[in-house]
Amino acid sequence: MNSSNPLIGRDIVSISDLSKEEIRAVLDQALHFEQQLQQNQHLTLLTGRILATVFYEPSTRTRLSFESAMHRLGGSVISVAEARTSSSAAKGESLYDSGKMLESYADVIVQRHPAVGSARALADAARVPVINAGDGTGEHPTQALLDLYTIEREKGTLEGLTVVMMGDLKNGRTVHSLARALAHWKAKLILCAPKALAMPGDLIAHLRHQGLVVIETENMNAALAQADIVYVTRIQQERFETVEEYMRYKGVYVVNEKAVRSAKAGMTVMHPLPRVDEISTDVDALPNAAYFRQARYGVFVRMALLAMVLGAV
Ligand code: NCD
Repeated sequence: MNSSNPLIGRDIVSISDLSKEEIRAVLDQALHFEQQLQQNQHLTLLTGRILATVFYEPSTRTRLSFESAMHRLGGSVISVAEARTSSSAAKGESLYDSGKMLESYADVIVQRHPAVGSARALADAARVPVINAGDGTGEHPTQALLDLYTIEREKGTLEGLTVVMMGDLKNGRTVHSLARALAHWKAKLILCAPKALAMPGDLIAHLRHQGLVVIETENMNAALAQADIVYVTRIQQERFETVEEYMRYKGVYVVNEKAVRSAKAGMTVMHPLPRVDEISTDVDALPNAAYFRQARYGVFVRMALLAMVLGAV
């Protein structure tokens, strides 16, 4: 165990729970694990430890990359993939009771849940570390960490970049967490969304207060002309009251090969995935397309988080 690990026993509920130095420590540890896996090293840091993944909302990448991360470190996983229907929540069990039970079954809990604040509620109940894998439209702090890792790998720095966030900035939790994180590196943020799907005003005020330059626009091409990075997000269908309302915004922005070629040279295209139609597949083969690398980096970052909160590094 290394006394310089600042995350031992900690919950990861909001990206704001982590200081700039703590984020740096996670990114450095993730790079170390990436290099070890590249050398085919067999890692056993978490042998005998158990991760519980409890997902009340759909997930492919987040759940599988956490589970893969745990296995790659020699640990074990227990899992409820459809907790909304197949766990005792369907019988009315509270998050508090769920936390009291899970803490004796697992050494660390990763939860995704549709309610904002649900991760905090579970963390308050459980004695073991709780990691928020998405609480409704609230936050997705581990996605923000892997997004930062991706930006640093693609650009060589986190400092002084112009980042365009595009799409459903109201309901998308990944952009809420990433924007908060970028405030540590004084980025310029250009928020490109239809007015009805704009990033919440109180969050924008908070970001400005933290020293971020924040510009709002509805014009995709004007935004891309300045972007070092465009972070594209899906219109979050499940957060709309009606299909008609969703259809009004579906397809509002589509980044295609032509848009990338007429953007600032070398612009990196990111997306937390899953994509629907907001990045056309003709972008995939361009060197600018970083979204599949981004998904791969998630494993290293989640290995770092698990090893750190469990005090194994
Ligand atoms: C995101 C999420 O769940 O918020 N997915 C993910 O974890 N990579 C983005 C989304 O669902 O649009």
